[in-house]
Amino acid sequence: MRCPWHDAGMRSSHDPLGQPLPAESGPLRLAVLGSTGSIGTQTLDVAHWQGHEVVGLAAGRNADVLVAQAERWRPPLVACDPDVADAVRSRLPPGTRLVVGEAGAAEVAAMDADVVVAAIPGFRGLGPTRAALRAGRHVALANKEAMVCAGPLVWAEVEAHGARLTPVDSEHAGLYQTLLGEPLEGVAALVLTASGGPFREGPADLSTVTPEQALAHPTWRMGPKVTIDSATLFNKGLEVLEAAYLFRVPLERIEVVVHPQSLVHALVRFHDGSIKAQIGPHDMRLPIQYALHAPARPPVPLAPLPLEGTWSFHRPDLVRFPALAAAYAAGHAGGDAPVRLNAADEVAVAAFLDGGLPFTGIARVLDDALDHAETAAPGWDDLAAIDADARARASEAVARALRNAP
Ligand SMILES: NC(=O)c1ccc[n+]([C@@H]2O[C@H](COP(=O)([O-])OP(=O)(O)OC[C@H]3O[C@@H](n4cnc5c(N)ncnc54)[C@H](OP(=O)(O)O)[C@@H]3O)[C@@H](O)[C@H]2O)c1
Repeated sequence: MRCPWHDAGMRSSHDPLGQPLPAESGPLRLAVLGSTGSIGTQTLDVAHWQGHEVVGLAAGRNADVLVAQAERWRPPLVACDPDVADAVRSRLPPGTRLVVGEAGAAEVAAMDADVVVAAIPGFRGLGPTRAALRAGRHVALANKEAMVCAGPLVWAEVEAHGARLTPVDSEHAGLYQTLLGEPLEGVAALVLTASGGPFREGPADLSTVTPEQALAHPTWRMGPKVTIDSATLFNKGLEVLEAAYLFRVPLERIEVVVHPQSLVHALVRFHDGSIKAQIGPHDMRLPIQYALHAPARPPVPLAPLPLEGTWSFHRPDLVRFPALAAAYAAGHAGGDAPVRLNAADEVAVAAFLDGGLPFTGIARVLDDALDHAETAAPGWDDLAAIDADARARASEAVARALRNAP
């Protein structure tokens, strides 16, 4: 596998991931996976700004929003969950075909599009993401779990099928922009910023915080899973792993700093002591647009970011937020540990939101998952079984925690 980190120098014709930079293009044909969600709807805002065409939409169960999107964009192909297929089919505009389930989402992912935005969250986003890569598409990757669970496998697909990746996550988009044109041998460390979430300043004891409090993110409006992950700092842990696999950088060279204003998205430390940063409003439409157009920067209809005010940086508190430490531990353990950790977190977050698991129980479920990790690196065919096993064990850990609750 080519590793740009170890290249003697960055060629100006290549991006920081070692991929050839594209020539500037006009309006794009987009396929949007997860179109009714936070990233999906913001992608459609960008499509509206830039006059792009939408050729495919894939969503889950939100029939009303999906139908309204199909009405607005008139794509030839739409995918949804089989349970809502009847509600969607009868309301689609003429010329739009409906496909269902994971195979349907994979069909949208593989269709003839200039960019596929992969924004189905969690492990279930992996199959459609892989389908887009196998079709040789440019994938704007929001589904960080694909990188976390299958980073080397994802890169192998990119290289085998001539696909391309650009990151949507604001921190990774920030790193990508900051590294562009830099000789990588000059880079000492990548720094991801974290808002710190709603509990950055308190309470000291997080065991009794409610889902409602945890969902009240101070800066970003996101789907529920990623919002809870931001409150535990596990999202930053996933992003550390995503950065390690995406930029192919050792974990020791990835730092996290808490920056409550969420205006500095990422920084790069260089060996000469300089630090470069990427700064922008906390609006996901900007990294989404960059992932579609990089390295071009078409104008956006937003007010410029004011520079006045206090911007602060703090060390993350790994005692109150042990989920971040668990992610580093999984990265160091390697093998199937990141897959297990990701699965356990999906179970634990769902149990916190719906099942009465205390907020602090989430990190305990993560630690339990790490106890069962194996060192062999999984192949594509192993992932589903590892994910299922980790989910079963995490459900047991949740049940134990609930039995032992006061
Ligand atoms: N939101 C952010 O600001 C942000 C920032 C960085 C990275 N990310 C990453 O981007 C991804 C998406 O996050 P999000 O916040 O946009 O999530 P979200 O708001 O929960 O939206 C999820 C989308 O995926 C669809 N979906 C769920 N299961 C599906 C399935 N099995 N097949 C097809 N579609 C399915 C949902 O459809 P229905 O709603 O119709 O069921 C919805 O359109 C995640 O990996 C997240 O970590 C998000």
